[in-house]
Amino acid sequence: MSLILEIYLAKSILLQNNCTILRKVAQLKWYRVLGAEEAAKRIPKGNLQLVKLGQQRICIAHTDSGYAAFSDICPHLGESLTGGNINFMNEVICPLHGYRFNMTNGRECQQRTQDLEIHKIELRADGLFLGVRR
Ligand code: FES
Repeated sequence: MSLILEIYLAKSILLQNNCTILRKVAQLKWYRVLGAEEAAKRIPKGNLQLVKLGQQRICIAHTDSGYAAFSDICPHLGESLTGGNINFMNEVICPLHGYRFNMTNGRECQQRTQDLEIHKIELRADGLFLGVRR
């Protein structure tokens, strides 16, 4: 009885999470930032590139595991992360105080400040696309 209830609850949680994920995906607007070849030339591995979408400042990182995109504004005191570096753990390092952020989940390595806002980014055959919440 208890096992069935747990499975039912797990399914229910999964359904809720899937709906949340679908809602978030549906609210993305995709922008072609660069052509696929141009992206590799303009943003070589280990580099950061600032992209401005209207008022939004987005930093694109090219790492060994691909591209990552996140807010250019450091959640600590607002420094531009594009002026920072990428370390061997694929973390972006803020140039002002050296806080390190995971580029996948946005967490600062010692959780000293809020998470970094992460954006979707995809390298497709026809270019590098940035998915930004509306
Ligand atoms: S402003 Fe980025 S770590 Fe302080």
